[in-house]
Amino acid sequence: MQIQVNLKDNPYKVFVDEPYFLELNTKVALLSNPKILGLHLNSLLKRIKCEELFIISVKDGEEYKNLASIEEILNQMFNSKLDRKSLLISFGGGVISDMGGFAASIYQRGIDFINIPTTLLACVDAAVGGKTGVNNHFGKNLIGSFYQPKAVYCQSEFLRTLNERELKAGLAEFIKMAIMFDENLLDFIENIDETTFLNANCKDEIFTQIISKSVALKARVVENDEKEAGLRMLLNYGHTFAHIIENQTKYKIYLHGEAVAIGMNMANSLALNLGLIDEKECKRVENILKKFKLPTTYKIKNLNEFYEAFFLDKKTHHQKINFILPHKLGQGIIKNDISKDMILKSLGQFQ
Ligand SMILES: NC(=O)c1ccc[n+]([C@@H]2O[C@H](COP(=O)([O-])OP(=O)(O)OC[C@H]3O[C@@H](n4cnc5c(N)ncnc54)[C@H](O)[C@@H]3O)[C@@H](O)[C@H]2O)c1
Ligand SMILES: [Zn+2]
Repeated sequence: MQIQVNLKDNPYKVFVDEPYFLELNTKVALLSNPKILGLHLNSLLKRIKCEELFIISVKDGEEYKNLASIEEILNQMFNSKLDRKSLLISFGGGVISDMGGFAASIYQRGIDFINIPTTLLACVDAAVGGKTGVNNHFGKNLIGSFYQPKAVYCQSEFLRTLNERELKAGLAEFIKMAIMFDENLLDFIENIDETTFLNANCKDEIFTQIISKSVALKARVVENDEKEAGLRMLLNYGHTFAHIIENQTKYKIYLHGEAVAIGMNMANSLALNLGLIDEKECKRVENILKKFKLPTTYKIKNLNEFYEAFFLDKKTHHQKINFILPHKLGQGIIKNDISKDMILKSLGQFQ
C-alpha cells in the first residue's frame, strides 16, 4: 500500500509492505546501529543500488540520542565526502530516524533523506511526519528540526526480529492516535488478539494493517498542521508525562512506548478528575494497555519536582502548561488552564 503525505512543499509517499528497489545515482550514507545491521543489512542491500554506500553505525540506545552522536554522524559524513546531492538513509527505530533526519537537516544546510523504519514504533509514528532531533540533559527531543523525508519504506519483515516488549511499545503510539482521533481504531485495537499479534506466522498481516491505518491517520494530521501549531499537538498525548518519566529514569528503565503508556494513564486520570472522561472510558483504555502488558503506573517520588519538570516541556508557553487530554475516546483536546492544585491532586494518585 502507498500512502501519500500531501505537504505543499514536501510531498512524499510512505510505502507499506510494497516491493521496492532503490536506484540512486548518488553517494549514500546508511545510518543504523550494530544490532540492526547484524540482523538486516544483507536483506536491505539487495534493495539498493547507488554510486557509493557508507555505513554509519552508532551506539544503540535512547541514551545515545544526543548531540555527541550527531557530531559523530556528521564527522563520518564529512569523512565520506558526502556532498549536497548525497542521500542519507535512516535504517532503524525511532532513535535512528530522529537522529538521521536531524543530521540530514543540518549537513551542509540540508541534504535529502529516506526513512526505512525497523521497529513498529518507527513505522506507525516516528518515521513519518518530519520531526527530527535529539535529547539533552534538560529533557527529551529539546533540540531538533522539522525536516521531511523524501520517502518512507515500511517493511513488516524487518519487524519479525523485534521482541515482545518492543512490539507492544510500538503499539502504544498507535493506541495514542486512536484515543486522540478515531474511536473506530480503538475498536480495531481492542479486537486484535494478543497471540495473533505476537505469532510469527500472523505478524506480517496484522502489522500491515496496523501500520497502514496509523500512517494514513498521521499523514492527515501532519498535512493539516506540519509545524505543530494545533492539531498535531494532540500526538503528544501521554508524552508530557512520559518525557519526565524517561528523563527521571535516565532512559534505562522504560522503552519510549512504555513510558507513553504510563503517560496516557496519567493524562486520563487528570481528564477524569476534570470530568472530561468518565470512569468507564478511563478503565477501557487501562484495560487495552494491560491487555498488551504495557505499564500503566509509575511511582512519583517528589510531586513538586515532577510538577516543575512540566515547565521544560516544549508545549509550555508563558508559564502555561498545555495538557493533551481525551475529551472523549477518539477526540483529543488541549487544556492550558488547569490549576496547580488539580494537577498535583492527579499526580498524587501516582505517589
Ligand atoms: N519523530 C517523531 O515523530 C517520533 C514519534 C515517536 C517517537 N519518536 C522517537 O522514537 C524513539 C523510540 O523509537 P523506538 O521505540 O523505535 O526505539 P529504538 O530506535 O531505540 O529501537 C528500540 C530497540 O530495537 C532495536 N531494533 C530496531 N529494529 C530492530 C529489529 N528489526 N529487530 C530487532 N531489534 C531492533 C534497536 O536497536 C533498539 O535497541 C524515541 O526517541 C522517540 O522520541 C519520534
Ligand atoms: Zn512518542
